[in-house]
Amino acid sequence: MRFDILTLFPNIIEAYIKESIIKRAIDKQLIEVNVVNIRDYTLLKNGQVDDTPYGGGRGMVLMCEPVVRAIEAVKSDNAKVYLLTPQGKTFNQEFAKEIYAHESKHIILVCGHYEGFDERILNFVDGEISVGDFVLTGGELPALIIMDTISRFIPGVIKEESFLNDSFNDGLLDYPEYTKPREFRGLKVPDILLSGDHEKIRKYREEEKRRVTEEKRPDLLK
Ligand SMILES: C[S@@+](CC[C@H](N)C(=O)[O-])C[C@H]1O[C@@H](n2cnc3c(N)ncnc32)[C@H](O)[C@@H]1O
Repeated sequence: MRFDILTLFPNIIEAYIKESIIKRAIDKQLIEVNVVNIRDYTLLKNGQVDDTPYGGGRGMVLMCEPVVRAIEAVKSDNAKVYLLTPQGKTFNQEFAKEIYAHESKHIILVCGHYEGFDERILNFVDGEISVGDFVLTGGELPALIIMDTISRFIPGVIKEESFLNDSFNDGLLDYPEYTKPREFRGLKVPDILLSGDHEKIRKYREEEKRRVTEEKRPDLLK
């Protein structure tokens, strides 16, 4: 699967993809992450990519030309192009699965900054994605969230058993996990997890998934 992340701040993306599970996925060629600097596509002097808004008002707005040229430079025939904006469809595990299930295995994520994009850029993309009802300074964190979430579906990026038990995967939250020591400041690991009886542990974890979901996210059970 290929991700192109179009940004004015490539270092933010580069730093993240050089670590941990995503780095290993890239090294194993399970995913490809191509970081594109939108500034490289401006036709204006001094690398200008934004300007003041028509009609007056606050801040700077990203111009059509560099953003659309950057999209066109990386777009393959069946690529899906998404703008990151707080006004888009809210990203969640289901939406991530939908994107992953689509025949296109080339996702282009366009990060805004400052006051956001010239509205006309919407004519050159397939949709807008938001990571929640709050406003960040830029689209880099949302792009990383989306790329990271979708990457976990790709066989080999993480162990299948981890993925199957993840929260939201079957509509429930994950069961509680414990590690050494057996007792920490009087807090004990549940005896059943130390019993060695795998069938009992499996059933206990199933029940725990339901209990935790009822307690923390009853909306998921509706
Ligand atoms: C300060 S925001 C612009 C917000 C815009 N003025 C508005 O209120 O809709 C700058 C950029 O950060 C990114 N961004 C901020 N919050 C986001 C969110 N919740 N989801 C996705 N992208 C977001 C977008 O790329 C956006 O263009």
